[in-house]
Amino acid sequence: MSSASRVIGVVGAGVMGSGIAQLFAAGGHRVLLVDARQGAAEAARQQIGQMLDKLAAKGVLADAGAAKARLSAVPRLEHLSGTDLVIEAIVEDLGAKQELLRDLEAIVGRRTVLASNTSSLSITSLATACRQPERMVGLHFFNPVPLMRLVEIVPGLRTAPDLVEDLSALVAGLGHTGVVVADRPGFLVNHIGRGYTGEALRIWGEAIAPPATIDAVLKDCLGFRMGPFELLDLTGLDVSAAVMRQVYDGYWQEPRFRPVPDIAARVAAGLHGRKTGAGFYAYPLTPAPAAPAPAATTAPIWIAPGPFADEVAALVRRLGGRVDTSAAPAGEAIALFAPLGSDCTTAAVAAGVDPARAVAIDALAGLDRHRVLMAPPGQDPAVLAGVAGLLGSDGVPVSRIGDGAGFIVQRVVAMMVLIACDAAQQRLATPAAIDGAATLGLGYPLGPFALATRLGAARIHQIAERLFAATGDARFRPSVWLSRRVALSMPIDLGDSSPCDLSSLAGH
Ligand code: NAI
Repeated sequence: MSSASRVIGVVGAGVMGSGIAQLFAAGGHRVLLVDARQGAAEAARQQIGQMLDKLAAKGVLADAGAAKARLSAVPRLEHLSGTDLVIEAIVEDLGAKQELLRDLEAIVGRRTVLASNTSSLSITSLATACRQPERMVGLHFFNPVPLMRLVEIVPGLRTAPDLVEDLSALVAGLGHTGVVVADRPGFLVNHIGRGYTGEALRIWGEAIAPPATIDAVLKDCLGFRMGPFELLDLTGLDVSAAVMRQVYDGYWQEPRFRPVPDIAARVAAGLHGRKTGAGFYAYPLTPAPAAPAPAATTAPIWIAPGPFADEVAALVRRLGGRVDTSAAPAGEAIALFAPLGSDCTTAAVAAGVDPARAVAIDALAGLDRHRVLMAPPGQDPAVLAGVAGLLGSDGVPVSRIGDGAGFIVQRVVAMMVLIACDAAQQRLATPAAIDGAATLGLGYPLGPFALATRLGAARIHQIAERLFAATGDARFRPSVWLSRRVALSMPIDLGDSSPCDLSSLAGH
């Protein structure tokens, strides 16, 4: 197969099948659309025709008439006998899909490629229904298909290797980016997406910060368009919970993927998000009234030594605070720490500073977009409020959260990077493909490797080591893939496809 005009069969004319049919017809291919429900394929054809007209009116598509002429609704599978490629987008059920594959094999020619748009089933398992498993492959599109320009190309263990190359060219010819992904639970996008929402859920589950604070901090500090809880509410917790379970169980209870216990109860209670009117937020959204800004402290601020000490001192001075430059905090001075991977309590105790006068700020992603502060338990809240007053006096938002190692940004970034490094180690995809999947498939501003490079891979590694030491939770154990590169002072190579030098074993 090549990117030249082909005859494509699409089985299942629902949300995904319609999008796939539209994409291929607009891309110059002949498309035959079929659905088991009577009239569904024809209704979809008409709807796609209207979409193509709209695209032409907007100037996005040159010739809607020609695209429409390339698309036909056909009543039976037998009409797909002359196709080069059949993509199934029917109900997500292993038995139904395998039965369809058996039926298709009896109809199509020996060289026809059979592809599945499944989002959760194993391609290798689906292919066991085929007499020729080497022609079976996963082609995982995202919703809405014409706009989400990523396609996961998933070879099963018995898929012919040249098929992957051909499909990559075909997908590229449609203006989409194909990413070749191993046949594992969650493929790539749903796998690497576990870090952002998963760690945010744990921070919330540990009562360190509420959803609105976590969302605001991650959007402001890292440039995400949506916070993790906004995303969960948009996708629907019922759908996300199924993915969480699939990836967690599929990786044999890998701690990095462990969901928080409240998820099942929230799904049972119907707190699915926007579609049920309630999730982590209540809909329609009503903006929370702004709390009055606390008064700025007049106490001197002693800045703890560390990698961000100069930046923190410059900020305090810029905001009119008094910096205590003595070797240790004197008198009424408040000690301000900017720790990596530690909580404020640990930082204060390690420095021999009175925790009652200690405050910590997260400086990893800079200090100018949103400032996150925490203080040890039992401290007079006026101390933290006074520092928040000073550090918010230029209008930059300040959030006060519970004392927790790694604040919000450090923990979430560390988990995103750890999961991505594990994926690279396991040859799930190259670092470049992982970053591409994150930006194109998940809409992240940066992929996890680009983020690690921007914030400092060695720092992220150090955060993971400290989080692991502080919590004893195996979810934070450092990545061996990253620790090797950090030990060698080696930058992350986005094209790195042989992390364990197993290239000779590719395909096994
Ligand atoms: P849908 O429910 O909108 O459409 C499924 C269509 O398949 C229906 O029109 C149904 O009548 C037809 N159908 C069911 N059994 C059939 C059979 N044996 N033969 C022919 N037609 C049959 O479902 P949707 O959302 O389009 O999903 C389809 C597939 O795409 C599933 O495998 C799903 O996991 C996957 N997917 C869905 C995404 C989404 O966001 N909805 C994203 C990526 C993949």
